Amino acid sequence: MMDQITPLFRPTALIHGADYNPEQWRHVPGIWDTDMRLLKGANLNGVTLGIFSWAELEPAEGVYQFEWMDEIMDRLHANGQRVILATPSGAKPNWMAEKFPEIRRVGEDGRRRLQGLRHNHCLTSPAYRENVSRINTQLAMRYGQHPALLAWHLSNEYGGYCYCELCKSAFREWLKEKYVTLDALNDACWSRFWSHTYTDWNQIDRLDGIHALRLDWKRFMTHQVATFIRNEMAPLRQYAPHVPITTNFMGAYDLYDYNALAKEIDFISWDSYPVWHGQGGEQCPHWHTGLWSTFYHDQFRAMKPDEPMLLIETTPSQVNWAQVSPLKRPGMHRTCCLLGVSRGSQGVCYFQFRSSRGSSEKYHGTVVSHDGRDDTRVFPEISELGALFEKLAPVLGSLPRPQVAVICDHQNRWDLEEMQSPVQGAVNYIGTCVDHYTPFWQRGISMDVPDQSADFSRYRIVIAPELHMLLPGTAERLAAFVEKGGILVTTYLTGYVNETDLCFLGGFPGPLRELLGIRIEEMDALPGFRTVPVRASAGNPLNLTGTWPARDICELIHAESAEVLATYDGEFYSGMPAITRKKSGLGTAYHLCARIGGDFLETFTAAILKDAGIAPLLGEPLPVGVTAQTRLAPDGTQWMFLMNFNETPATVDLGDAGWRNYESPGEVVNRAELPPFTSFIFTSCGDPLPGGDLTT
Ligand code: GAL
Repeated sequence: MMDQITPLFRPTALIHGADYNPEQWRHVPGIWDTDMRLLKGANLNGVTLGIFSWAELEPAEGVYQFEWMDEIMDRLHANGQRVILATPSGAKPNWMAEKFPEIRRVGEDGRRRLQGLRHNHCLTSPAYRENVSRINTQLAMRYGQHPALLAWHLSNEYGGYCYCELCKSAFREWLKEKYVTLDALNDACWSRFWSHTYTDWNQIDRLDGIHALRLDWKRFMTHQVATFIRNEMAPLRQYAPHVPITTNFMGAYDLYDYNALAKEIDFISWDSYPVWHGQGGEQCPHWHTGLWSTFYHDQFRAMKPDEPMLLIETTPSQVNWAQVSPLKRPGMHRTCCLLGVSRGSQGVCYFQFRSSRGSSEKYHGTVVSHDGRDDTRVFPEISELGALFEKLAPVLGSLPRPQVAVICDHQNRWDLEEMQSPVQGAVNYIGTCVDHYTPFWQRGISMDVPDQSADFSRYRIVIAPELHMLLPGTAERLAAFVEKGGILVTTYLTGYVNETDLCFLGGFPGPLRELLGIRIEEMDALPGFRTVPVRASAGNPLNLTGTWPARDICELIHAESAEVLATYDGEFYSGMPAITRKKSGLGTAYHLCARIGGDFLETFTAAILKDAGIAPLLGEPLPVGVTAQTRLAPDGTQWMFLMNFNETPATVDLGDAGWRNYESPGEVVNRAELPPFTSFIFTSCGDPLPGGDLTT
């Protein structure tokens, strides 16, 4: 059999699109004509179509009505829109739920759910997979060669777990394949604890208690989604092998291992719904939303770091599901869309084009609201962005090329959630990853946020916050990375358990002990009102000077072969190491034993960047809440997107490197005045500029 060649996602223009649900309106005369006019007026060159259309495509089993979709596909083609055509498995028709009760999901309480809303099918049910395969075959045969077709959109936001007997029995089979014998399973899961020893596979029915089984359940559910995806894809590949396939992931979603699912599809898309302006106030300034959004973009892009991705859903104005969802302030829409482009998105699509007249999402922000007008506040903003996207086509082909990675790992996140340790209230895994990411963001240094399976050789610096669970091979690959010259930073809570949550024996950080040159003996948990000073020892090799407060978690460690850069200066562990480093081969591994606050991460980041020879893009630091993000073209041209996420203006000195304002051709700029929530696009004039991007 010939190997399948994976089709690449290489649009020839930046995509500016929207979820389009014309089937909701097909009985309203004239509305599709109006839609075609408004799509054009909004400068939309794409739509995602058919996401929730199953009942309108197959109103009864095996009875198909494609005429409306035929007409829409042709009209869109004639109107200049490319189509990302969905498979409809995200919501099943009523007749199907009635005929095949097994496709309705079962909750953890063992009760089968009602037909309900959407995203609630059993992931295992052969009947559902069969029905999905049938409708996908019809779609692929009918539209696989349609000139409007740009890509396939699998389902919608795969999500959740099903606990029906089919799923549980498939789980047991999956476990048998993994562990082969019950003895091996009992050993790996430490099930003798609390007398949970399994003597029959069928006893594995409930998931409470055993950490390793709970982790395996999540891996198994990820596997079920992967095989569900393969079933969805088979007919699409058969009838349209040239059309790339994606599915829309959700930011911050943690029930599946997205990095594993990313391997199944051709390109990454994700739905980004940050609550712009909704997080104002002293505790969380607005720019944090920009920071977190950038982090998620970098996490999704890093799932396929050499491929462009797509910001496939965002709202043109508000969402309808947050308790408070303020309007996007002028400029913010453009800025958050350009943020997506700056991080490797090949465009932006909105949810949704036209407001639904009824049901759940009628008050969600749209391009065309219930008034049906194009002289609104939002519409011209969209249309202007579309015009800009047309001019921005040369950005296609460039990508962010980070030299720095912060590892944020799905499986490790699951494990930390199960940890039940003295510091469990302080873990805050994603927040900790973002804390380490922030000083780079503020320097305009491009980042990847991969999981622990990443190819570390791509990077100069790898930061691994709280990497509590080391999967097989990770420690060895980190050691090879350092050996060849990489800079590794680990923190407290690193290297405690293996992939089945068994503690490493003989001293933490287990297989990283030699690389870091330390042995962790205990971890102290600090209540919120207590801090312990950490003082940098005089003349330390990183030139760190100062005293900073450690909070929440302090590990008590022994430096075995590591140098000590800073020590605790308080508590009964005063004088013990708080920051260490060990050189191995051409590289260096640092360990931060405590969560050190104040401006420590800022100072430390500046020091390791210097050590790595990476210069900040525009001098350091940028004004708080301003970031610069870059894409690098194969010819060495840098694209720089300078964005102000503050409610107040900011000024940025661009130096004399010769940045050109892309929207005012020819203008070389040394200084940028950024009004609130604005964004500028620059290109480099000459040689590639510093700032953390590699010309690979
Ligand atoms: C997404 C979903 C869309 C729509 C949108 C509303 O998560 O994929 O179908 O519901 O949210 O914000």
